[in-house]
Amino acid sequence: MRGVILAGGNGTRLHPLTLVTNKHLLPVYKKPMIYYPIETFRKLGITEILIVTSGEYLGHFYRLLRTGSELGVELHYEIQEGNDGTGAALLCAEEFVKDEDFMVILGDNIVCENIKRFVDDFEDEKKEFKAKILIAKVDDPKKYGVVEFEGKRITKLVEKPDNPFSNYVNTGLWICQPEVFSLLKKLKKSTRNEYETTDVLHTYAKEGKLTYGILNSKWTDAGTFEQLYQATVLMKELEDKAMQRDEVEFEGGKIG
Ligand code: DAU
Repeated sequence: MRGVILAGGNGTRLHPLTLVTNKHLLPVYKKPMIYYPIETFRKLGITEILIVTSGEYLGHFYRLLRTGSELGVELHYEIQEGNDGTGAALLCAEEFVKDEDFMVILGDNIVCENIKRFVDDFEDEKKEFKAKILIAKVDDPKKYGVVEFEGKRITKLVEKPDNPFSNYVNTGLWICQPEVFSLLKKLKKSTRNEYETTDVLHTYAKEGKLTYGILNSKWTDAGTFEQLYQATVLMKELEDKAMQRDEVEFEGGKIG
């Protein structure tokens, strides 16, 4: 399986930090944010990874990461023209993915858990489901894509609803089959003027073709000041306890 990291966007929620750089190059404790999804893939044994970002900062990513050999992976790069949504960014991965199943990580997502079982299970689930998303329980669902589920299916997925109908949200960790690209090509822009991958996932949900795994441990999207700070604190706490990110679940999901 190949991996795709979406690392474009304007990072407007982090202005002025992102006025002259890309969000995923900002530090989360001792490493640039982009290192975390790369490490997540490497731990899964997914070493062929595509980074999608804007042409403006592609050179910065390359200077930092080069071929990926120092991180134990093989990196590929693709430019997203315009920062008009995760749907448009993901479409840039079509040629890289070809006809294999693949995993996507939104570049600002940091997960503290070994997610291998979720990925392995998709091998059987894919006969029945077109994609799988990892979901998490949060206190403030309004900021995310909110989901509802029944049995093995996601039954509803709505991007940042005013009145959330559950506390479970879509994280930015998804396993997809290559047919997702035909739907991405048909996407129309959302009210926030972006091509949203969520709309494709919602189509799958309506067809009963979207399955999920629930994260047990800490997960964060480091895309706001508060979340970026919390992610930094968490990484320091892990270092203080000499713990790896995927060991957190053995403490019952609690740090400190
Ligand atoms: O992190 C979880 C949330 O991520 C989910 O709950 C939402 O359903 C999902 O839509 C997404 O919401 P965000 O509002 O956080 O998405 P954001 O605009 O921050 O973009 C997510 C990642 O995708 C980010 O790391 C940058 C990348 N991206 C974004 C845009 C707009 C691109 O690569 N290109 C883009 O054009």
